[in-house]
Amino acid sequence: MGRPKITIVGAGNVGATAAHWCAAKELGDIVLIDIIEGVPQGKGLDLYEAAPVEGFDSRITGTNDYADTAGSDVVVVTAGIARKPGMSRDDLISTNAGIVGSVTDEIVKVSPDCILIIVSNPLDVMVTKAHMQCKFPRERIVGMAGVLDSARFRTFISMELNVSVEDISATVLGGHGDSMVPLPRYSTVSGIPITALMKPERIEELVQRTRDGGAEIVNFLKTGSAFYAPGAAVIQMVESILRDKKRVLPCAALLQGEYGQEGIFMGVPVKLGSRGVEEVIELELTPEEKSAFDKSADHVRELIKTLS
Ligand code: NAI
Ligand code: 2OP
Repeated sequence: MGRPKITIVGAGNVGATAAHWCAAKELGDIVLIDIIEGVPQGKGLDLYEAAPVEGFDSRITGTNDYADTAGSDVVVVTAGIARKPGMSRDDLISTNAGIVGSVTDEIVKVSPDCILIIVSNPLDVMVTKAHMQCKFPRERIVGMAGVLDSARFRTFISMELNVSVEDISATVLGGHGDSMVPLPRYSTVSGIPITALMKPERIEELVQRTRDGGAEIVNFLKTGSAFYAPGAAVIQMVESILRDKKRVLPCAALLQGEYGQEGIFMGVPVKLGSRGVEEVIELELTPEEKSAFDKSADHVRELIKTLS
């Protein structure tokens, strides 16, 4: 039995950082692929040469040829352009839809049984675009955003209460954008809801900072967007799948009636295991939370219309 094979499409900031976390966790052999010649080869070899220092047995291949990705178990798509200051994720649609569409076609030809994880933005639209191309069952196609958004919320809660991030769990539903729905009632410190630990006005400030979390980093970097936390977040999903951990993580999954929504990818709690999206978990929402979720779905639907 060989090691699992993980392909990461896009050897830019998020792709290369994801490859780094993936190798450090020794999740399997990694193929890094990009359209730019030399970049995946150079970054791949450089990372491979860290193996003796860090002691990981993962083979890392950099390539521009999809034949090298054949038979992948998990494929992570980070290909596309990232936003710059003043741009929203939605401004990336037309460029990234073309890229994600063609990448998905190439991947499916050589890895028809893989589990596909989309990262490219705007996330909810790109995972929809990939699904239109590959038509995978919902178990095998999922988007990464909620793990990142909830990690940001957890970081801000930890900074505020000065407690370990390990004891904090946070839930963020909905689309990956201004309409995302952080849920303080389902966000806890060692099981205690944060609503019992902080004033409502302060919680609202942390919620808003979470919604603006991507822009906060873009405004610092100016030339691109976040990549350390996004890279770590997507690899947490890959780990849950390849090690069949069955973690319950917020991910963009295709809804089939859950949360009153049909045929739309939205951020919801998902059980991720060796079969991919093994279950969509439905939380009970208050009328206000449900209305925020529905508004987020309406926004994603509007964006999807621009795909055609
Ligand atoms: P980047 O610009 O550093 O890297 C993108 C890479 O994609 C480049 O190396 C580029 O050559 C490559 N690429 C472009 N077209 C390609 C194609 N047809 N085939 C293969 N590779 C191709 O950008 P970065 O920072 O890595 O971000 C990548 C994407 O991920 C962006 O769309 C960004 O908005 C998104 N993102 C999404 C997050 C989420 O939570 N879902 C979080 C962070 C970034
Ligand atoms: C983020 O939230 C750009 O979507 C990316 O950082």
